[in-house]
Amino acid sequence: MTKRYDLAIRNARILDGSGADSFTGDVGVSADRIVAVGDLGGSSADREIDAKGLAVAPGFIDAHTHDDGAVLHGADCMHCKLSQGVTSVVIGNCGISLAPATMKKRPPPPLDLVGTESAWAFPTFADYAEQLRRTPPATNAYALVGHMSLRVVAMDHDVQRAATDKEAAQMQQRLTDSLDQGASGLSSGLWYPPSRHAPTSEVIAVAEGLRSRGGLYVTHMRDEADGVIDSIEETLKIGRDSGSAVVISHHKCTNPENFGRSTETLALIDRAAQAQTVDFDVYPYAASSTALLPDRLRDDMAVQISSSEPYPDMKGRMLADIAKEWGVDQVTAAHRLLPAAAIYFMMDEADVQRIIAHPRSMIGSDGLPSNDMPHPRLWGTFPRVLGHYSRDLRLLSLEQAVHKMTGLTAKVFGMVDRGAIRPGAYADLVLFDPETVIDTATFTAPIQPARGITEVWVNGVSSYIGGQGVTGAANGRLITRNKA
Ligand code: ZN
Ligand code: CU
Repeated sequence: MTKRYDLAIRNARILDGSGADSFTGDVGVSADRIVAVGDLGGSSADREIDAKGLAVAPGFIDAHTHDDGAVLHGADCMHCKLSQGVTSVVIGNCGISLAPATMKKRPPPPLDLVGTESAWAFPTFADYAEQLRRTPPATNAYALVGHMSLRVVAMDHDVQRAATDKEAAQMQQRLTDSLDQGASGLSSGLWYPPSRHAPTSEVIAVAEGLRSRGGLYVTHMRDEADGVIDSIEETLKIGRDSGSAVVISHHKCTNPENFGRSTETLALIDRAAQAQTVDFDVYPYAASSTALLPDRLRDDMAVQISSSEPYPDMKGRMLADIAKEWGVDQVTAAHRLLPAAAIYFMMDEADVQRIIAHPRSMIGSDGLPSNDMPHPRLWGTFPRVLGHYSRDLRLLSLEQAVHKMTGLTAKVFGMVDRGAIRPGAYADLVLFDPETVIDTATFTAPIQPARGITEVWVNGVSSYIGGQGVTGAANGRLITRNKA
């Protein structure tokens, strides 16, 4: 009996996502699944691709995003991700999730990064999940519930204090309800003003809701600078006390006095990992990006404005230049630009490389799709790891690089049948040229699709074609954590 496939990709270099050595072979797809891997022989397919010279990998999983709004608005809004080979995104990070929350007024920064008042229209997670069913996302979405979102609602914007026991209990209840409705974990952003006054005990009280549901605790830690070690200890404690696996978001050591300390942080994480589950993600740049927070500025830190509501034309300009032009200091200039977002040049490239090379790190973009002049990570993260760090700098093998974007991420987040090329797995696939793949987005021209991504499939449907753009398909789904 000769098999017939919907799609046959032949003669490709197959990177199966496990980190194992690649091999040359064929991949057969029927409907939304991979059904055969190896030599498809004389079988036929509705669509045949001769992929000689190209590599095929599981579609990349973006371990850290703020695409809560973007996934609701069609394929064009996900062009930045599909063009990198991304087929699944983890949303609701840094304590910021669109659901479950409604806002009567503009939420405080950084919650406004995912939308102003009108975007916050999901009183329950079930409402958000229903919206994803009605208007499917162009990539799969895996959702976390943000502690900051829960906090601002439970405390009615009065957040410059610890939550009362009653408020923490309400947050925990809304978390468990959300987990029952398709969310997969809790995220926090304890560095940010709306969450800074949350003591560890409050976070543990909320995270306690993860225990019975097998949810994940993911955190933008309280401090990534001088207090980075204490913050890792706090994260580990929250994980232990709530019985949950933890993920440290966008791991970094910030400010010049902390450059080089990733040797300490990675050693601490490795030691802790012998006793509890702890993982982390990283983006491949030495600059961060978030809301513009005037009281966090330093004279020795270069800052580029990525959007400003009152001064949209200032996007892309350095804060120091704007301040000089206005004849004021940087803090005064920053206050005038609010609400605004910015890029902060405050990391050491050696730390970035050490963290990327560490076997436990996953790749996440942390891109901010709402910014007018976004950090280049929004369009460049995955091809930059493949082309710049793996191929050009040889920091890690192509197999390892792909593993950090696929199999490892699927395992950490508990995504079933994702991040792997094997019979039975979902047909989330990326076909790319390992010789040419590279990011083209820069700090001065950040909205640029990468080179070398040939085609991308989401659940078996062609969703992006290199040189042409998105196909318009929106074939993603809400995916949930395997609680096993
Ligand atoms: Zn963050
Ligand atoms: Cu983030």
